[in-house]
Amino acid sequence: MAKTLSTRHLIGIKNINADDIQLIFETADNFKDVINRPIKKVPSLRDITVANLFFESSTRTRVSFELAERRLSADIVNFAASSSSVSKGETLLDTVKNILAMKVDMVVMRHPAPGACVFLADRIPANIVNAGDGTHEHPTQALLDAFSLREKFGDLQGKKIAIIGDILHSRVALSNVFCLRKLGAHVRVCGPPTLIPKHYGELGVSVSHNIQETLEWCDAANVLRIQLERQNINFFPSLREYHQFFGITRERLERLDKEIVIMHPGPINRGVEISSDVADGPHSIILDQVENGVAVRMAVLYLLAAQGA
Ligand code: CP
Repeated sequence: MAKTLSTRHLIGIKNINADDIQLIFETADNFKDVINRPIKKVPSLRDITVANLFFESSTRTRVSFELAERRLSADIVNFAASSSSVSKGETLLDTVKNILAMKVDMVVMRHPAPGACVFLADRIPANIVNAGDGTHEHPTQALLDAFSLREKFGDLQGKKIAIIGDILHSRVALSNVFCLRKLGAHVRVCGPPTLIPKHYGELGVSVSHNIQETLEWCDAANVLRIQLERQNINFFPSLREYHQFFGITRERLERLDKEIVIMHPGPINRGVEISSDVADGPHSIILDQVENGVAVRMAVLYLLAAQGA
């Protein structure tokens, strides 16, 4: 097992290998112990300054990264586009160069444009962590999802994982496909034909439009949000109809002859892609995913900092 990552940036799961993922998981195991101690802090990133640049809204990822950085004793600069000079016309590169001039070592960035993080990685001397770039990738979400599945199942080799819902607009789906495939899992995407891009068939996953048959097939279902804010045309007739045909409900789960693990990256549209009794039910690991996010992000920041910019 390698003891360093193969990369200086975390732009996407596509760009890292299975050894990198295992190293992140083993490091996260140690950090999960740390954050469950009475004193939840280690000095690992003392003297490292991290800028959290959020050009798009976020609750879980932003808070999780900030907590991870604080637990590692990093210095933190928080930036939200809505209250910055971006609204006066400043470019992404100018914004980031100005922040880096204040001696920042690492940048965690969420941006609505796919490719925004790789654009920066080629131009600035700091480690870049992609916290979600448009509909492209959300690598730390996929890592925390797979870490949470690993806690449930151990090795993911041969496990059957379904990703259900709005695949078309989802960066979580693409990062999950790359991550789960690299760990040896079988992956199926399921949703209405209008919400599954044609190229998914080339990613080594199976495609289904039959929700009950997909639930029968899988060991775990990762249920995705319908991203209405990214849809300017109608991909299905109504939210009520979506729930009727693709919503994960207790009735659907009770029809199975087995129990499956239920996941959701959040934020949840309760009563649309998942019913409240399933989201809050005994098979849901949604809050475990959130808890694991802090340890996984600590591991990513720690390992990238060790690489230097
Ligand atoms: N899962 C996720 O990315 O949530 P946020 O948009 O709240 O960060």
